[in-house]
Amino acid sequence: MILSAATSVDGYLDDASPHRLLLSNAADFARVDEVRASCDAILIGARTMRQDNPRLLVNSEALRAGRVAEGRSEYPLKVTVTRSGDLSADLKFWHHGGAKLVFTVDEAAETVRATLGDLADVVSVGPELDWGLVLDELGHRGVSRLMVEGGGTIHTQLMAQDLADELHLAVAPLLVGQPQAARFLGAADYPGGTTARMRLLEAQVIDDVVLLRYAPQERS
Ligand SMILES: NC(=O)c1ccc[n+]([C@@H]2O[C@H](COP(=O)([O-])OP(=O)(O)OC[C@H]3O[C@@H](n4cnc5c(N)ncnc54)[C@H](OP(=O)(O)O)[C@@H]3O)[C@@H](O)[C@H]2O)c1
Repeated sequence: MILSAATSVDGYLDDASPHRLLLSNAADFARVDEVRASCDAILIGARTMRQDNPRLLVNSEALRAGRVAEGRSEYPLKVTVTRSGDLSADLKFWHHGGAKLVFTVDEAAETVRATLGDLADVVSVGPELDWGLVLDELGHRGVSRLMVEGGGTIHTQLMAQDLADELHLAVAPLLVGQPQAARFLGAADYPGGTTARMRLLEAQVIDDVVLLRYAPQERS
């Protein structure tokens, strides 16, 4: 599993305005497109879907053609998680790209199914969402490489449960400074505590953005 995020220098994923803050630059968006194309599925949290209304596609035609030439689907599976079940059928997520899958909890499953109809497969993983079960179900569906594109609530849980093989952090030269805005990671007991150092796999300059790649499970 790859966790991917773009942050400001002060660790925010967005600002507090209703419009999505563009943190990356064109070259970095192209890099993200390549990572998306290399994955079997892409996951985002329901709040990111409601707030940003992304299509979450592989945008490059050449990358999509490459997938098809390898016998893969043109687009990765798109996945989201919700506890509330508050997912409008009008969101762009459902109307672009390939197959869609929603993980939810028992209480919300009927609502989500009724709202979405044929737009997505809906799987309830019990009274509470268990990430182990989510990953097992994705595995059964042929997903071996999953890209998680946030937001911070999702990233925090997956980092705290030590489920990410790689962390891709694109640091943009911006300062947000708004405590009500979404942060990349929130409060949690992270594995190894405050002194555990993740292994740095790569630091790459992409115009004015720096990409840091870490292996979170390889700590010293
Ligand atoms: N810069 C970037 O790379 C980047 C990428 C993505 C997002 N963002 C930004 O991040 C912000 C949104 O982040 P966020 O942290 O507020 O929200 P989020 O992580 O996108 O989504 C949180 C939602 O996911 C569902 N969820 C999370 N954990 C769950 C669990 N264990 N069980 C069931 N459902 C669960 C819940 O949906 P329900 O509320 O429906 O129950 C929860 O409210 C936006 O501002 C967006 O622009 C930035």
